[in-house]
Amino acid sequence: MKIGVFDSGLGGLVVTKAFIMAMPEYDYVYYGDTEHLPYGEKTSGQILSYTIEAMKFLISQKCGLIIIACNTATSIALRYLQQRFIPAYAPDVKVLGVVIPTVEEALADNAVRVGVLATNATIRSHIYREELLKIKPDLEIKEVAAPELVPAIESNDFTAAEQLCAKYAKEFSDIDSLILGCTHYPLLKNYFRHILPSSIRVISQDELMGAKLKDYLERHIEIDIALSRRAEHKFLVSSLNEHYRKVAEMMFEKIDIEAVEK
Ligand code: DGL
Repeated sequence: MKIGVFDSGLGGLVVTKAFIMAMPEYDYVYYGDTEHLPYGEKTSGQILSYTIEAMKFLISQKCGLIIIACNTATSIALRYLQQRFIPAYAPDVKVLGVVIPTVEEALADNAVRVGVLATNATIRSHIYREELLKIKPDLEIKEVAAPELVPAIESNDFTAAEQLCAKYAKEFSDIDSLILGCTHYPLLKNYFRHILPSSIRVISQDELMGAKLKDYLERHIEIDIALSRRAEHKFLVSSLNEHYRKVAEMMFEKIDIEAVEK
């Protein structure tokens, strides 16, 4: 049984890299649904149906533990998957998301005013607000949707992406912690840290997910012992372009990335 990692695109590679760096010995299958990007601009019905297809695919690849690295898919689909789809389709498979670990991290440091930057669909779901308030009901939260950021990153336009970061940063002058609530945003974390006041803690999922998964496996020995450890790392996407390949090659020393045959 392997570890599956799902995202809509490039961002998931950042999280997969964090897992591999923390635990290189496990077998991973990363799947990016690049054909349907950006998820953040899709309807909830579309996001749910793409995510179900991705789960079926990763299960067919022998993944027994699947991490939905995509915040948008986590926001819209995780609850349904955990409560309805997985128990009926593949009851032995475990599916986790990124929102709860990120919320735990954000609240680990006495946060009082938290900002959340995410896609339209994630902000529309208010999942971060809901989960943050469950733990700390008096927290002040500012949610901002950044619909243009993912398309700028996916089209390799980092000049536009940095201008957008500057625009969004202005919305967060009065917070103490900023959640980068999209797996694509770690690619811009240094820029956010550079333009925001140094008193604002920027929470970037690439820096927390490795430790969170490790901790999860230590607490769930029954899952951990079923995971294969041949250090096989497989990278698959639904549609491959040159830019994607280049960014992937910049991120990993050696990477074979393939488009899935349909
Ligand atoms: N990477 C996804 C997330 O974490 C969103 C990207 C997209 O819009 O497809 O929310």
